[in-house]
Amino acid sequence: MKVLILGSGGREHALAWSVRRCARVTEVVCAPGNGGIAEVARCIPVDLKNLDAMVRLVEAEQPALTIVGPELPLSLGVVDVLQEHGFRVFGPTREAAMLETSKAFAKQFMKRNKIPTANYAVCTSAGELEKMIDHFHAPIVIKADGLAAGKGVIICQSRNMALEAAHGLFSGALLGTAEGQVVIEEFLEGDEVSFLCLSDGKTVAPLVPAQDHKRIGEGDTGPNTGGMGVYSTDTILDPGMTEWILHHIAEPTVRGMAEEGVPFVGVLYVGLMMTARGPEVLEYNARFGDPETQAILVRLESDLVDAIDACIDGTLAATQLRWSPGAAACVVASSSGYPGSYRTGFPISGLAAAGQVPGVQVFHAGTSNLDGQIVTSGGRVLGVTAAGESLEQALARAYQALGEIHFDGIYFRRDIGHRALQPKASTEI
Ligand code: AMP
Ligand code: GLY
Repeated sequence: MKVLILGSGGREHALAWSVRRCARVTEVVCAPGNGGIAEVARCIPVDLKNLDAMVRLVEAEQPALTIVGPELPLSLGVVDVLQEHGFRVFGPTREAAMLETSKAFAKQFMKRNKIPTANYAVCTSAGELEKMIDHFHAPIVIKADGLAAGKGVIICQSRNMALEAAHGLFSGALLGTAEGQVVIEEFLEGDEVSFLCLSDGKTVAPLVPAQDHKRIGEGDTGPNTGGMGVYSTDTILDPGMTEWILHHIAEPTVRGMAEEGVPFVGVLYVGLMMTARGPEVLEYNARFGDPETQAILVRLESDLVDAIDACIDGTLAATQLRWSPGAAACVVASSSGYPGSYRTGFPISGLAAAGQVPGVQVFHAGTSNLDGQIVTSGGRVLGVTAAGESLEQALARAYQALGEIHFDGIYFRRDIGHRALQPKASTEI
């Protein structure tokens, strides 16, 4: 069977690599793809903001299955239009993706369905927000309602800073477009965990947990990024905690969406804060995480396409996912200057040697192939991913592989996974 993947980042490279290993898959196409994805899939240009272009591509290619990677095409309704045209596609509909695309919807949904999350208020004007803000103590979290590519959450140390941030969102000064709704949220403290599940609209099947490192600097300092590295081990959550999260968060989410007439089929990514009160939802994403997917998929031993088919067919309850018991880590190599401005077009060397390190897969995030030479083309350039029997081994392998790789201005954090290597008290509820 032919599988088409929409997207162009490290997540899509990991998806293409994983799909290619599936028993029934004979061809993988990725649109638009990148320089590294072209080594495992045929890449075709497409504009992920243009629904007609995506429909034309799927009509021309006739894949047996289309997998949607990023949130933007989901927010436009690519799943709805492809389904209307009779195609088999994996991802939530536009309305179901609102769990990610509208933070106001997500918060109100969680409240209706008694899913633990930070206290909040949804405001539709600066005046309303000024009144509501007195119910919150600093630090106060201010969030844009809509998609903001990681720039829509502002943690404010004072009431005045929160008011300023909210004004910036309402006026459009902060994100370029004016927000109709702004969420005020209580600040939560704890460790963050990315809890991803497959959902067929009724049943959820958890993937292995992962922990993301969002800040650019070592020791979790500096501005937020799309993610500088991630690790996955079974010890991030013990079995009792996984059950608790399934029963109190993931399953009620999928059940609530079905009861509200908007079944959620796809990947439900629950961003959790492990607070002193127990796990609480920071955010939902309606897709595979990036770079979580890179570390998660190198641990998947069962067939990804079979699992995706089970989601689409509503038979997930009868499907068993199998995982390698050890650990995986993904360290992102970025361009100097990221997440601010950066230059591109620098040749990358050492990729072949890096790929020879046992257990390593080098997933490309922002690269292109220029006449046979792989060059940088984005802020996040590579996700050097390694599986191992332990987290220590996975990290050692990833950093050994990174030692082989060079490009002008290469930057990566040297402390990915370090928190997990330090002994700490377990969270109990
Ligand atoms: P989001 O886009 O909602 O995932 O938020 C991005 C990041 O902001 C999260 O990964 C957290 O690190 C942080 N964040 C969001 N909401 C809160 C909150 N209520 N309390 C503390 N940190 C938060
Ligand atoms: N790693 C965070 C995300 O995919 O949104």
